[in-house]
Amino acid sequence: MLKLVDRFAVRPSGFPPPWVLFTTLATLATLLFTTPSLANDLGRAATPAEIAAWDIDIRPDGQGLPEGGGTPADGEPIYNDRCATCHGVFGEGEGRWPVLVGGDGTLEDDRPVKTIGSYWPYASTVWDYIHRAMPFGDAQSLGDDEVYALTAYVLYMNDIIDDEDFELTRENFADIEMPNEGGFIADERPDTMTLAKGEPCMSDCTPEPVKITMRAAVLDVTPETEATTDEGETVTIAATAPAFDADLAAKGKKVFKKCGACHQVGEKAKNRTGPLLNGVMGRAAGEVEKFRYSKAMKKAAAEGLIWNAETLGWYLEAPRTFMKGTKMSFKGLPDEDDRAAVIEYLKQFE
Ligand code: HEC
Ligand code: HEC
Repeated sequence: MLKLVDRFAVRPSGFPPPWVLFTTLATLATLLFTTPSLANDLGRAATPAEIAAWDIDIRPDGQGLPEGGGTPADGEPIYNDRCATCHGVFGEGEGRWPVLVGGDGTLEDDRPVKTIGSYWPYASTVWDYIHRAMPFGDAQSLGDDEVYALTAYVLYMNDIIDDEDFELTRENFADIEMPNEGGFIADERPDTMTLAKGEPCMSDCTPEPVKITMRAAVLDVTPETEATTDEGETVTIAATAPAFDADLAAKGKKVFKKCGACHQVGEKAKNRTGPLLNGVMGRAAGEVEKFRYSKAMKKAAAEGLIWNAETLGWYLEAPRTFMKGTKMSFKGLPDEDDRAAVIEYLKQFE
């Protein structure tokens, strides 16, 4: 799905603008309603009515707009009645409520005034936003014609439509050009990390029978170990097991020779100079029974240090820089690949 990024936004600033939220919501809705569930006893297919209730996003080309229409002249009384208390009769914003009009040419100022006229890339977002979220506190109480009329009126107040009798409809919607459309570029990067790595695996992703590694203890929504698919086959169900890279782990086994002087892993592992490392990934630091940790490690543990790929990577890169006073007298693994490999290797010992 295509996202928009503001050309001027160099860093994320607070609350995301509405169109980012809509895209995210729309993506979520798509995921929720299209991901096939493995087990028949997990959820059910959404009904067309439920999908329709979620599927209200309007695209820049007008896709998603309903039948209907409205003019600025139709919109004015509705606006005065239902919007002006907050947004001001001229869209200037009462008190600290959002300003809807003006701000032209201020985007490169230190304090840009971002309004529909000065900032928003597409008129479709105006329709979508008013329909979805306004009036504030009474969202989705407006009829489609009212939303067309209000959108037309807000655009009229911003001099984007100049005839108060111009009827905005689904047919002419895409012809409206917003002043700052060119201030946005399409961001074609995939939405998620998984997609960025290539096509995600959707079935039979692991050759081994899948193991349950975690249970949702509070809600107990984890299905039993077996379930029946739509085709009537019996399958073993997994709670989402963290991805494990066996090749990388094999490399990690070699790297672990450097640790082996002090650490053991596996069934018969015992504490030696260093604590045994079974189950270290994902757990709190300094938890192995009967091992006498340094004060530094105890302090880090008390402060909530959890060993994961990130924190363990830092520790292994330069133990005494990451944790001043640690007892681990090991010069560290400067090579990032070695660190990733040994961390992968450690994942398999529970
Ligand atoms: C009770 C006060 C209130 C009323 C009434 C109200 N709004 Fe809003 N409006 C808000 C608030 C608050 C926001 C910002 C919401 C947010 O950022 O989550 C907002 C945001 C907006 C925005 C987006 C502005 C921007 O640049 O981000 C539009 C467009 C809008 N309102 C249109 C309308 C219309 C049209 C009506 C009348 C149908 C209306 N509003 C009624 C409070 C109100
Ligand atoms: C010279 C011995 C030595 C070597 C070599 C060594 N360690 Fe350690 N390691 C220790 C000691 C001692 C501790 C306890 C540190 C403390 O209490 O401050 C420790 C702690 C750890 C911990 C924290 C365990 C916990 O229970 O919180 C991890 C993880 C760890 N080492 C991983 C490794 C890995 C992976 C390697 C190899 C790349 C390695 N260590 C090499 C001695 C060593």
